[in-house]
Amino acid sequence: EDNRRESLMIVTGYAAKFFHDSLLETEEGKNIGLSYFKERGFTNETIKKFELGYSPDQWEAFTSQALKEGYQQQFLEESGLSVKRDNGSLYDRYRGRVMFPIHSFTGRVIAFGGRTLKNDKSVPKYVNSPESEIYHKSNVLYGLYFAKKAIREEDNCFLVEGYADVLSVHQAGIENVVASSGTSLTVEQIRLIGRFTKNITILYDGDAAGIKASLRGLDMILEEGLNVKVVLFPDGHDPDSYVRNFGTSGFKKHIEDNKKDFILYKTDILLKEAGNDPIKKAEVIREIVESVAKIPDSIKASVFIKECSYLLQIDERALLSELNKMRMAKA
Ligand code: GTP
Ligand code: MN
Ligand code: MN
Ligand code: MN
Ligand code: MN
Repeated sequence: EDNRRESLMIVTGYAAKFFHDSLLETEEGKNIGLSYFKERGFTNETIKKFELGYSPDQWEAFTSQALKEGYQQQFLEESGLSVKRDNGSLYDRYRGRVMFPIHSFTGRVIAFGGRTLKNDKSVPKYVNSPESEIYHKSNVLYGLYFAKKAIREEDNCFLVEGYADVLSVHQAGIENVVASSGTSLTVEQIRLIGRFTKNITILYDGDAAGIKASLRGLDMILEEGLNVKVVLFPDGHDPDSYVRNFGTSGFKKHIEDNKKDFILYKTDILLKEAGNDPIKKAEVIREIVESVAKIPDSIKASVFIKECSYLLQIDERALLSELNKMRMAKA
């Protein structure tokens, strides 16, 4: 079992080097992949540090080279780098894509995300490695290996949506940043962050998908007993585009000015949706108390009830009795 995992990681490590070399040393890689990364503003230092790469736009460029160098078909297939045809031969999963290797939190390459360069809605923007013995995507956070030291030092972890967000924010000198790429946020990912800090700041896209994901993430983080704040970016922006447009100080300022604790964030969003309808407003209150009921620490919970009472102009005792009802129902 351990041998098989090691063999798989040797293959993914080799692939990372293959894609990285192809980015920096082949004409196709330089003309297409490297110029794309440069256009996005990624520096040579970032490209090297995160081992970014390019997969040649051919059916078997990687697979045939790997087989020639003695890597076994079995591991090429299980790592997801190669895909088997009906006739048993292998072809490359990643073709003509820029490559983002995904590192384990000890720094081994265990999987890839590959981004298309085509502006074509019929091809998936990102292709990610399938699950394998070394890659359980629900347990992995993109960028954690490069972020963990800063997460400890800052005692906070910024959580973003995508690969490019991690790279740009990190490159801007804010290194305590990770993404839950390839999945929506999982409990395992939250626990992983919890080893380094108890404070998470969600930085999601300001689009409908980002808001929905943030509300879901928020409740899960509370349930794990961690503290959570949320910052949304203006619609059409994500952390990557924002930090490139407004620089490190503009980015930090946006966070400071827009950082909301979860009650305030949820109240704002839900009340906006409810408008003046009293029935909807009552539902909002119940939903917020439901979130508070997820907080394991009851002292913390009572502080949030106070804030909630203030924000919603509702009697604190009414909220507390609702909270207790929910707690009883859960127990
Ligand atoms: P860029 O356009 O490169 O800036 O990507 P983005 O990270 O801003 O993309 P977006 O906000 O649309 O999506 C956020 C994250 O979701 C991405 O980084 C990917 O991890 C994932 N994702 C987006 N599109 C796809 C897709 O088509 N397939 C898969 N599997 N994941 C995707
Ligand atoms: Mn396993
Ligand atoms: Mn988005
Ligand atoms: Mn983006
Ligand atoms: Mn985005």
